[in-house]
Amino acid sequence: MVPLRVWAARPLGRAVARGLPLPAPSRPRLCSSGPRGARDEAPEARACFTTPIFYVNAAPHIGHLYSALLADALCRHRRLRGPGAAATRFSTGTDEHGLKIQQAAAAAGLAPTELCDRVSAQFQRLFREAGVSSTDFIRTTEARHRRAVQHFWAALQARGLLYKGLYEGWYCASDECFLPEAKVSRQPGPSGDPGPVSVESGQPVSWTQEENYIFRLSQFREPLQRWLRDHPQAITPEPFQRTVLQWLEEDLPDLSVSRKSSHLHWGIPVPGDDSQTIYVWLDALVNYLTVLGYPSAEFEAWWPTTSHVIGKDILKFHAIYWPAFLLGAGLSPPHRIYVHSHWTVCGQKMSKSLGNVVDPRACLDRYTVDGFRYFLLRQGVPTWDCDYYEEKVVKLLDSELADALGGLLNRCTAQRINPSGTYPAFCAPCFPSEPGLAGPAARAGPEDYALVSAVATLPRQVADHYANFQIYKALEAVSSCVRQTNGFVQRHAPWKLSWESPVDAPWLGTVLHVALECLRVFGTLLQPVTPSLADKLLSRLGVSATERGLGELSFLPRFYGHPCPFEGRRLGPETGLLFPRLDQSRAWLVKAHRT
Ligand code: ME8
Ligand code: MG
Repeated sequence: MVPLRVWAARPLGRAVARGLPLPAPSRPRLCSSGPRGARDEAPEARACFTTPIFYVNAAPHIGHLYSALLADALCRHRRLRGPGAAATRFSTGTDEHGLKIQQAAAAAGLAPTELCDRVSAQFQRLFREAGVSSTDFIRTTEARHRRAVQHFWAALQARGLLYKGLYEGWYCASDECFLPEAKVSRQPGPSGDPGPVSVESGQPVSWTQEENYIFRLSQFREPLQRWLRDHPQAITPEPFQRTVLQWLEEDLPDLSVSRKSSHLHWGIPVPGDDSQTIYVWLDALVNYLTVLGYPSAEFEAWWPTTSHVIGKDILKFHAIYWPAFLLGAGLSPPHRIYVHSHWTVCGQKMSKSLGNVVDPRACLDRYTVDGFRYFLLRQGVPTWDCDYYEEKVVKLLDSELADALGGLLNRCTAQRINPSGTYPAFCAPCFPSEPGLAGPAARAGPEDYALVSAVATLPRQVADHYANFQIYKALEAVSSCVRQTNGFVQRHAPWKLSWESPVDAPWLGTVLHVALECLRVFGTLLQPVTPSLADKLLSRLGVSATERGLGELSFLPRFYGHPCPFEGRRLGPETGLLFPRLDQSRAWLVKAHRT
C-alpha cells in the first residue's frame, strides 16, 4: 500500500530571527522525566479517543462519518472491557478558524460565525443521528479553546521555541499548509492561465512573504525519531509509522506558526501581539488538550492517554507537528495515532466539483443507522482506499446482517423450532468436552468442536484486531463465525428432530443451546459497531443489560463443566426481523413509486 505522501512545509525563505530577544532554546526531551502527564498510572486505567476536528467550509460527507465511527467503535469496545464509562472520554468537533473558513464564508456571503454555526450544527446532528457516543464536541471558536491555545503558545514561547522571522513561500489555503517549491506545479486555472497549485491536492497556492512567528521544529527531529523507536506502535497500522520515520530522515525545517492578522483575521490572536494570528493547525491540534480541561491541572490525569483517529491526509500534522509542539510545551506525545485511508465513490475522489459527494444522512435513512455503520466499518480498510457504491452496501448487508445473522437468530428462536421460547438445556453427554470421552449419547462431530473452539477464541481475536486498528478484520472474524454457526445448524437440521422423542430431544436442545450461545457472543461483540441491532439481538436472547460486557462473556460454560445462567431462561419477546433485507424493501419502494 502506498500511504498518501505529504511533506512538511519548508519555508523557502529564510526564517531569520529579527528583533526579538531570544531566550536560550530549551532542549526538547522525551517524556521519561520532564513532561507532565498521566503516564505513571496503569496504562489501561483511562482512555481518551478523538476524531479530527472537521473544517466547516462544507457539509459532512461519508469520510467524516467514517472517522467518527472508527473512533466510536474503539471507544465503545473499550467501554465493554470496563472499568466503566467514567474512565473513557471521546471527543470530536469542528475546526472553525483559518483562511479556508474565512474565504468560504466570504464566498457564501456570510459572516464567518454564521457559516461556523450552520455547518458545525450539521456535524453535530449527523453524529447524534449516527449514534456517535462522543462525550464532548469541541468548537475551536469557544472561549475555553482560545484560553488553551493562548496558554499553549505562551508555554512554547517561554521555552524559547518561537522566534520572529521572515517567511517566504507557497501557502495552500485549502489544505492550510505551506509547500516547498517541489510540491507546486503550474496548471491551467478556470481562465485558462496556468496558476500555481499543490501537486498533492491540486488546490491553488499563493505566494506569501511576511514576518511571522516561527517554531523551532528543526530541533525535534531526533526526539521524534526516539519517540517512534521507543513506541513502535505509536502510529498504527505499521506502514504509516514507517512513512513518518522516512519523513524524519529528511530535513525538518522550522515552521511558520502565525499569519499577519491583516491577511488572516479569523483566528486566535498571538498573545501580546494582535498584529499576528495563530496558525490554524497549531490552534486546531490544541483542541485535544482543551477537551481534557487544559490548562487547568485536571488535564494531567488524562494526558497522554489519548488515542487519535485520523485520515492519512493529516498524518504529518499529527505525527510530526503535534508531538513536536507537545514536547516543546513539556508534554508527552499522544498514546496512539490510528490512521485510516480514504473513501472514494465509484472509483473517484469525492469532491464538490465532481458532484459525487455522498450525503451520509441519506445513507443512514436508506440503510438504517446500524446497517450503514456496519457497512463502513466492515468494508473500510485502514491501509487501502475503499470504494463506495450502492450495490456493494445492499449486497453486504443483505448477506451478512439479514440472511446470515438474522436468519440464524430466526432459526433458533422461531416458535415452531423452539416452542417453549426458552434457552434450552445443554446435554453434556451429547456434546462431551473432549471427543475422546464420547459415550453412546455423543452426537457432535469434528466440525462442531472446531466451531466451539472458533467462537471461544473470537473475543480475544476481536480485541486484538481492535488494538491493531483493524476493525474490519474483527467484523470479518465475527462474520466467519456466524457462517460457521449456520453451517452447524444446517448440519444438524434441528427442524428434523423432535422434542417428543427421548433420543432427539436432548440433542435438539443442545444444538439450539450452542447456537444461542454463539449468537450471544456475536451480539456482545457487535455492540460497538451496531449498537441497536446488538441490543435487539441480546434482548431477544434474554441477556440483561448487566450481562453484556466482555468481562461477563463466558461462552458455553456448560461445555466446560460450569453452570450456565441462561439455561432454561425465557427468551425475550419477539420483536420482528433482526435486519430486513434491503433489496426487497427497495423493490417495494420502486413498486410503491410506480403505482
Ligand atoms: O483536515 N475518506 O479537516 P477536514 C475517509 N480540520 N475519511 C475522510 C475523507 C475520505 N474521503 N475525507 C475526509 C482537517 N476524511 C482539519 C483537521 S484535526 C486537529 C484538524 C476524514 O474537514 C479524515 O479523518 O479536511 C480526514 O483526516 C479528515 O476527515 C479531514 O477533515
Ligand atoms: Mg481536508
